[in-house]
Amino acid sequence: MAEVALSSLRTSKVPHLALLILTKRANAPSRKLALRPLNPVGRSLLLPVAQTNTFFRRYASTGPAIPAPRVRSPPLRASPRTSESRQRDLRASNEQAVPIRSFGGYFWAVSIFGFVLSTYLAYLYSSYKRAIRETAMLDLPQNADVSSRWLDVTRNFDDEVEFSEKLIWLGGKRRKLCKDAVGNVLEVSAGTGRNMEYYNLDSLRTPRDKRIKSLVFNDLSEIMVYQAEKKFDRLQEGKESIAKFRGPVKFVVGDASDRRVITRPEGGFDTIIQTMGVCSMANPVGFLKRLGQLVRQPGEKSTGVDMDTPAEEEKPGHDYGEADKKHNQTDETGGRDKGGKILLLEHGRSYFNFINRFLDDNAKMHAHRYGCWNNKDIDQVIIDSGLEIESKKRYHFGTTYEYVLRPRGSQVQPTQ
Ligand SMILES: C[S@@+](CC[C@H](N)C(=O)[O-])C[C@H]1O[C@@H](n2cnc3c(N)ncnc32)[C@H](O)[C@@H]1O
Repeated sequence: MAEVALSSLRTSKVPHLALLILTKRANAPSRKLALRPLNPVGRSLLLPVAQTNTFFRRYASTGPAIPAPRVRSPPLRASPRTSESRQRDLRASNEQAVPIRSFGGYFWAVSIFGFVLSTYLAYLYSSYKRAIRETAMLDLPQNADVSSRWLDVTRNFDDEVEFSEKLIWLGGKRRKLCKDAVGNVLEVSAGTGRNMEYYNLDSLRTPRDKRIKSLVFNDLSEIMVYQAEKKFDRLQEGKESIAKFRGPVKFVVGDASDRRVITRPEGGFDTIIQTMGVCSMANPVGFLKRLGQLVRQPGEKSTGVDMDTPAEEEKPGHDYGEADKKHNQTDETGGRDKGGKILLLEHGRSYFNFINRFLDDNAKMHAHRYGCWNNKDIDQVIIDSGLEIESKKRYHFGTTYEYVLRPRGSQVQPTQ
């Protein structure tokens, strides 16, 4: 074959034509393959082969180039397989799109949260600036009696505090405090009864030593006590009959530090709850001293809790556990009964000077408007009250205080 080729090249007058013929022969099988009715993809792939031939043809003669046969691709019809694979592709791309969508969700959540937070901070800042301006014109000494602000019937305390309490999750702290209320329970400066929903009043489904036997709610303001009473009724109406509270409930209007206002039950109160009220007191030390008398004294027999049933041991790291070590005192009674508990949730000065500066600048105007000194030194008030500090915790840069206090004993005369 090679010899034939060489001799035809040698003898040919047109050597490049001979070369073309040889090349055509060599390409013949693939050309056949190109013209075979294959699938459209195959044809289009082989099309350049035909074009290559045209290229050679142009140089093979001086005549006009013969156009290569145009292979028409039939219109692409979706075969079942194609549509299946398309669907598969679509599904895969949808799956890939999921993180993009969830990123969008995060983006919106973060943006909305950022917007709410920045709006709130802007609101705080503008109130701060205004308070400083107005404070300069106010004649109100620090810790002056502003409790009359609570007698204003046009106020809606729940609306005033709802948003800020949600922002700092205060509901959780209220719940934690009220969960420990047992026996004869007194809540002083109860306001509109924002703690009510957190008491466990379902005595039938509660162990004997954890039950609440009686309830007394007190506040200086009549309108507050009225609202608290309505709230209590609403909460009770919403409960199934087995869970309704069966013990005595009393609502008492008046200054809790006045010994004529709240009657001490026999054996004292097993639990006294006080939240966010010390800031509003004209005489917080006298108020806490009175609570020290109303609470059950160390070793005194309770009429609210069955003291013969051994109480469940308090677990380490309990709610009030890892408190400020400096203030945590050891059990001076040597494991003997320490009396009832005074559970306190308060707000006041912070650990940080820059926050205290803000509170101080704002305090006069805040007290004048809302009847609460939010820059009080709560630690000092507690120390001055002479109550025993069982535990203490602080939150929100130290501005929220959580205390468990006990009476020191011998604070009650028989007539009290
Ligand atoms: C900031 S509000 C707190 C209300 C409620 N304890 C709470 O946590 O939402 C303060 C309340 O303390 C009450 N208060 C102020 N001085 C009082 C006093 N000497 N005896 C009883 N209540 C008093 C006010 O009337 C007011 O309702």
